[in-house]
Amino acid sequence: PALLLALTLMLSGCVRLTLAWAPQTPKGQEATPAIVASDRSEWEARKPAIEAALQEEIYGTLPVATEAKIAGHRVFEDQKLGEGLVFEEFDVAARPSFPGGSGEQASFTIALVRPASAKGSLPVIMVESFCPRWSAVPHPEAARPTGAEQGEVPGMIRFAFGRYICQPPLEMIAEAGFALALVSATEVVPDQSEAGIAALQRLMPEGEDARWGAVGAWAWVFSVMADILGEQDSIDADRLIAYGHSRYGKAALVAGAFDDSIAGVIAHQSGTGGASLNRRKSGESIEQITRSYPHWFTPAYAEFAGEEDRLQTDQHQLLALIAPRPVLLGNARRDVWSDPNGAFKAAIGAAPVYELYGEAVRPLERLGTFRPEEPVAYWMRPGTHGVVEEDWPAFLAFASAHFGD
Ligand code: GCU
Repeated sequence: PALLLALTLMLSGCVRLTLAWAPQTPKGQEATPAIVASDRSEWEARKPAIEAALQEEIYGTLPVATEAKIAGHRVFEDQKLGEGLVFEEFDVAARPSFPGGSGEQASFTIALVRPASAKGSLPVIMVESFCPRWSAVPHPEAARPTGAEQGEVPGMIRFAFGRYICQPPLEMIAEAGFALALVSATEVVPDQSEAGIAALQRLMPEGEDARWGAVGAWAWVFSVMADILGEQDSIDADRLIAYGHSRYGKAALVAGAFDDSIAGVIAHQSGTGGASLNRRKSGESIEQITRSYPHWFTPAYAEFAGEEDRLQTDQHQLLALIAPRPVLLGNARRDVWSDPNGAFKAAIGAAPVYELYGEAVRPLERLGTFRPEEPVAYWMRPGTHGVVEEDWPAFLAFASAHFGD
């Protein structure tokens, strides 16, 4: 039931995705914003104002520091997840601090899967999962609340949202030389408006100006994962990659933008509040996203519905904050709700900042050619919203090009 509940939540917005066709390639570069800065120091001097505006208008106040500790650790070498795979779990307790103090502590569990044969420390792909962690990485002993079922991924869900919507391909990831760490970020902030807002408020001190949204809190969960995993001998602290699909793709981008311990980002179909521009956008509007998901953003975001030009920033600036660290933007042609064109334009808008760091951003000159080795890689496949057969090989091509041995 938990699995079904988590996935039906997605359906609300996603059924609309298939109703329209996106053009074969994004429509040129008209109305593409660009960041103009003459050198790196000019750009770096502007970053704090952009970070402040993104928080004030979209994501809410983000933590300025975190205390995180491991409260429990279990290792299973029994290879029950697949041949040659070691499974570990870390119970984490973490408390964010905000400019005005701190609120409650959060607790969640990280599942880690790594190849037993690996020598030295590995790069890790950190995943926030749509399905409960214990179903996404289905080790029979996986920690879970009393009574929670492990749950097979229903065939209908796999059909509608792709083979990998719930379960990343553990063996394929290990063979590519990566560890995989996975959490259910809803253990920290539930993905429901009332319960979500209550959890967000508990984590903040009273009286903090702009209540953070779930996207910001889930981004913080990536940062906590980075802290914990970066301390493990089996993991290379310089190769921590945040991966998310859709709502968690938004969170992965925010994590990369605000936390430079995250070395790279894979944001698949992140859409509104993620990689896609707010201004002159197609697909999901600010009005629609803030009405359906009031807990995802700071309340101020809703005030820009229909008045997007009043925003001080746009999403190309979020991408630019990640520079020069590599980012992959995943898209599908018929996923118009996520607005692949808007993500493409945002990538073009961020490119001048990558160039300031000596990173030429070429894949964006010509679509249809996936160049995983580029610092801003744009992956476009046929089809709709979801994580399908060809997505993970593309994600791993990007991860290997930038972080492989
Ligand atoms: C809905 C929502 C999107 C979101 C998506 C998802 O469709 O409107 O903004 O990205 O769910 O998380 O799958």
